[in-house]
Amino acid sequence: MKTSSVLGTGRTALVTGASRGIGPLIAREIAREGNRVVLTGRSREELQAVAYALRDNGADVSFLPTNLVQPWAAEALVQTVERESGSIDLLVNNAGGDPQREFDRMTLNENLDILQLNLVAPLTLSHSVLGGMLQRGHGHIVNISALAGRVAFPYTEVYAAAKDGLIGFTRVLRNDYRGRGVSASVLILGPIRGAGQGQRTADQLGLKLPPFATASAEAVARAVIDAIRHDRAEVVVMPGPGRLMKAAMDYFPGLGPAINRISGSTATMQKVIESRKEQNHVALS
Ligand SMILES: NC(=O)c1ccc[n+]([C@@H]2O[C@H](COP(=O)([O-])OP(=O)(O)OC[C@H]3O[C@@H](n4cnc5c(N)ncnc54)[C@H](OP(=O)(O)O)[C@@H]3O)[C@@H](O)[C@H]2O)c1
Repeated sequence: MKTSSVLGTGRTALVTGASRGIGPLIAREIAREGNRVVLTGRSREELQAVAYALRDNGADVSFLPTNLVQPWAAEALVQTVERESGSIDLLVNNAGGDPQREFDRMTLNENLDILQLNLVAPLTLSHSVLGGMLQRGHGHIVNISALAGRVAFPYTEVYAAAKDGLIGFTRVLRNDYRGRGVSASVLILGPIRGAGQGQRTADQLGLKLPPFATASAEAVARAVIDAIRHDRAEVVVMPGPGRLMKAAMDYFPGLGPAINRISGSTATMQKVIESRKEQNHVALS
């Protein structure tokens, strides 16, 4: 069975991280294909606002607030979605992010929460949907990863570990189950403008994200559909020859940090870290 059949009327998609940032755009693009879409994230109000906006455009959308860092939350989420909205044909593991704080200054538990959100939750959700997908003989799992690890983006130790882990996880999952109708794709994102964490941070610091160095959030959403339709293994979403850039970073591990220094990313991240420290100080005082 062609995995593209997970798109269309009568098919159910679960999209995590759909309350804000890039997730709502991914959900919109999938809903446009005719799928029933279930949105999840922690914030009920934001999920409701996204769901209402999509419904106004004729989409079949519902939402279920869940904190994916909590134990057993992912398993319970899948059970509830399958009970209320039918079997999940398409899972998009998009929820993720990084607190943009120094590894040594965060507690071990804070670091482990980053791993939980960005790696353990996608893995657990995939495990929870896989049995049903294999029984039905079709399904697709899309994981949203990042170039952070490859470019050694400053102060993203655990985030980078999780996102690189997600690339390896997707590669093996795809290899093992594609022959039985269940495929997997990973999108490896560079900096994204227009929506999401990178844009919010830039706005907070009064920085402009240059279009020549960033991809749009809409491009990510379109890339999700493209990855499913053409059953792509890995898609690098960044301007220019993304896959080549990623390969160059792997071949020359010093290249990423050098580019970060020259492009000003290291200095910018230092500012971000300082502002996070201040926010944390205000929050705690
Ligand atoms: N934006 C970029 O430049 C960029 C670059 C590379 C990769 N990425 C990846 O792209 C994906 C989307 O990023 P984004 O920029 O759109 O991030 P974002 O704007 O910060 O949105 C993150 C989403 O994840 C949800 N989320 C966060 N913590 C959660 C938790 N504990 N349980 C359940 N849901 C949770 C948030 O919803 P609630 O707050 O309501 O829980 C929100 O919907 C992430 O995987 C990110 O790592 C982004």
